Amino acid sequence: MCGIVGAVSTRNIVPILIEGLKRLEYRGYDSCGVAVHQSGELKRARSTARVAQLEASAAESQLDAGTGIAHTRWATHGAPEVHNAHPHFSRNRVAVVHNGIIENHDELRAELQKRGYEFSSQTDTEVIAHLVDHLYDGDLFDAVQRATQRLKGAYAIAVFCRDEPQRVVGAREGSPLILGIGKGENFLASDAMALAGVTDQIVYLEEGDVVDIQLGKTWIAARQADGRFKDVQREVRTVVAHSGAAELGPYRHYMQKEIFEQPRAIADTLGDLGETTGIAPELFGDGAFRVFREVEQVLILACGTSYYSGSTAKYWLEAIAGIPTSVEIASEYRYRDSVPNPKTLVVTISQSGETADTLAALKHARSLGMEHTLTICNVATSAMVRECRFAYITRAGVEVGVASTKAFTTQLVGLFLLTLALAQTRGRLDDAEEHEHLKALRHLPVAVQAVLALEPQIIAWAEDFARKENALFLGRGLHYPIALEGALKLKEISYIHAEAYPAGELKHGPLALVTSAMPVVTVAPNDALVDKLKSNMQEVRARGGELFVTADEGTRIDSGPGVRVIRMPEHYGVLSPILHVVPLQLLAYHTACARGTDVDKPRNLAKSVTVE
Ligand code: M6R
Repeated sequence: MCGIVGAVSTRNIVPILIEGLKRLEYRGYDSCGVAVHQSGELKRARSTARVAQLEASAAESQLDAGTGIAHTRWATHGAPEVHNAHPHFSRNRVAVVHNGIIENHDELRAELQKRGYEFSSQTDTEVIAHLVDHLYDGDLFDAVQRATQRLKGAYAIAVFCRDEPQRVVGAREGSPLILGIGKGENFLASDAMALAGVTDQIVYLEEGDVVDIQLGKTWIAARQADGRFKDVQREVRTVVAHSGAAELGPYRHYMQKEIFEQPRAIADTLGDLGETTGIAPELFGDGAFRVFREVEQVLILACGTSYYSGSTAKYWLEAIAGIPTSVEIASEYRYRDSVPNPKTLVVTISQSGETADTLAALKHARSLGMEHTLTICNVATSAMVRECRFAYITRAGVEVGVASTKAFTTQLVGLFLLTLALAQTRGRLDDAEEHEHLKALRHLPVAVQAVLALEPQIIAWAEDFARKENALFLGRGLHYPIALEGALKLKEISYIHAEAYPAGELKHGPLALVTSAMPVVTVAPNDALVDKLKSNMQEVRARGGELFVTADEGTRIDSGPGVRVIRMPEHYGVLSPILHVVPLQLLAYHTACARGTDVDKPRNLAKSVTVE
């Protein structure tokens, strides 16, 4: 999604700005731009193509300066066209880049138009440029502080002004922004990753902060409850940010690479667990034992794929740990009236740790008095980890493909460990059971590897799916969320309409859709519900529907007319969802390849959804 980089230096910062944008590219964007303070003027280059194209335009325009800002945009207000790309200018004096959404932009636009400002874009961002220009009285830091008092919504911004050549001012509210401190030079970015190789001295700005960066100097002012600003000091941390652009190696797409990295990602997420240590609440942070003992219920908040890992974990948490669990879509939870219980463990799940809806839902839960917060997150330096009291960091590594794969399976590993830790604290896990679960966890990388070997059979299925426009996914119990995840994967990268149902629900409506043109993917582990599932499959066959089944050994589900079975290498008990999701990831991937879509950057989607 949108990304910001800004810099003040004595050297030419254009290459740093462009490199920073390249590091943020994988998040998804539809236009990009860079603006600098050069020869007493504002100069910019913008593009609706890739950052590499922007780099060429910047070189062509001979951009070369010590002060500047740059941006990747994911369109919200106004189409992805050059005139809507950031940076936006006001009267050729003020330049602004912005992540987030200004909710009162209509009102501000009308006011600024009355004052004579002309708008050249449909964006909400342009109001910030004109507002800062209107409030500017020789001090950009002051103008930005006053401007933020008028803005409603979520934003991270970086601004510079023609009249103050060596100064960039940033502000954040609801969208991340960091300050990078260099030697005699300073930087702003929406993510430390943008500054990898430039500086590792990072300050995570807090909500309401406005930051002033100059040559060798920085100031931070924090907005107080009365709306006034007060100078503050923030901790400088040493952050080793990884580059976003991992090598593709022998793979065609990052998604394929990431699917195949799952054995390694799961092994890394487990670390040496079980070899030197057993399950302990302290895996989630100091003091977790006391909190785990005190809580009466779990509330999981997440979006998209992370929501489905949470939905799977609900089955584990209730069956194994015996703790009542609810799972809420973050964007819904934050706006509904719910009944809070202070003795709740609030668990957020997020690959990026920057998802705006999940962060807002967490804030909302806290505002309702639920202070016991824990996150399962893939980015140790993210806002989510900083905001939660406890954390389990998954070690999936950088996930570039917009369609989440290795983040999902490693989240499941983290959630299963949480289940075991809660079960242990509540006296529901004896040593023998713990030993068996740890053994199964440690065998997972090998088990996933064996599932990956099924790829040629999945490719054969994908050839059929590529010609379809609709698909149904069925699962029961623990595997219903896996069916949901399979449908999400297929729709987001192949653009085939896919829906998932608990198989028992079919007869209550969706069966009406089943014809010979409707492929029905069925997740069939050899569990207690397998006979019920077989009856549901008969209902499909009786209507001419074609079944594509991932079936465990021992299910006695075999290929035949209208039924195509891929045999899973082994039945995996309660950890079975981690295996059964893998063929569904491969099915989506190969179907998308067969249809020729942009697998890693599907249309309209972004990797990190930092706006509401
Ligand atoms: O970074 P997060 O896990 O918080 O992201 C949540 C969703 O945006 C994400 O899972 C999304 O649904 C993926 N594109 C799914 O593949």
